[in-house]
Amino acid sequence: MLDTTGRTVMISGANRGVGNAVARHLAGLGYNVSAGGRDVDAVTASLAGVDADRLLCHAYDATEAGSDRAWLDATVERFGSLDVLINNAGVLDTSALEDLTDEALDEMWAVNVKAPLRLTQLALPRLRASGTGRVVNIASLSGLRVAGAFAPGYAMSKHAVIALTEATKFAAWDDGVRVTAVCPGFVATDMTSTFGADPDTMIQPGDLAEMIATVIALPNPTSVATLTVACRLEARF
Ligand SMILES: NC(=O)c1ccc[n+]([C@@H]2O[C@H](COP(=O)([O-])OP(=O)(O)OC[C@H]3O[C@@H](n4cnc5c(N)ncnc54)[C@H](OP(=O)(O)O)[C@@H]3O)[C@@H](O)[C@H]2O)c1
Repeated sequence: MLDTTGRTVMISGANRGVGNAVARHLAGLGYNVSAGGRDVDAVTASLAGVDADRLLCHAYDATEAGSDRAWLDATVERFGSLDVLINNAGVLDTSALEDLTDEALDEMWAVNVKAPLRLTQLALPRLRASGTGRVVNIASLSGLRVAGAFAPGYAMSKHAVIALTEATKFAAWDDGVRVTAVCPGFVATDMTSTFGADPDTMIQPGDLAEMIATVIALPNPTSVATLTVACRLEARF
């Protein structure tokens, strides 16, 4: 495993849910954590107790031009390098196929697909320089299969995230960058809180954070392209 102490990680949507759990967990492992979110005060409050010497909270809005570059620049200025990019921020619209609107699809495309692409493009020179750069895209099982009538537009966007992950892998493999699509089923966060299911039957964000920490600490010859995690019986997963 890599020595993770002092490695620098950027995580989008770090103020709650999966992103917050990952940010906290990696900070505890000695990473320099650059936490991005739309409301920087909310990001800061959500990471109270994390060692301030290893934490940068910065504004990041996936739909705002230039927000990504400002966040990356501030990260490199503060920590001097970048080793890991975690594209976590995401939105879900559950409309059935015939109810799916252009507006809802556009928002999912902007936040779930275009924003991670732009961040990846901006971060790749730094990740290449690391020699052991890592990119994690939080996709979904919805990026690998369509679950009946559930959230077809979201599934379309997450299938695109899988393609982005594969494309990034091919673009940067020779420079030591390893890329993983994390594909969970339901995770107990705000995103699933209206589903009416018992959160205890879902994947816990902290457990996902531990798996992600393991994946990004693996050495270059041990690449995990897709990490699938199911909370219930699924064909193939
Ligand atoms: N929960 C699940 O069952 C599940 C399953 C599979 C995959 N995922 C994926 O896991 C990731 C995290 O989801 P979650 O469950 O933690 O959801 P969540 O609790 O709803 O959190 C979503 C995060 O994304 C951020 N975000 C949304 N729009 C943004 C924008 N325009 N700019 C910057 N940040 C934005 C949110 O920030 P604000 O607080 O500012 O809104 C929040 O931090 C997403 O990519 C999601 O698709 C979730």
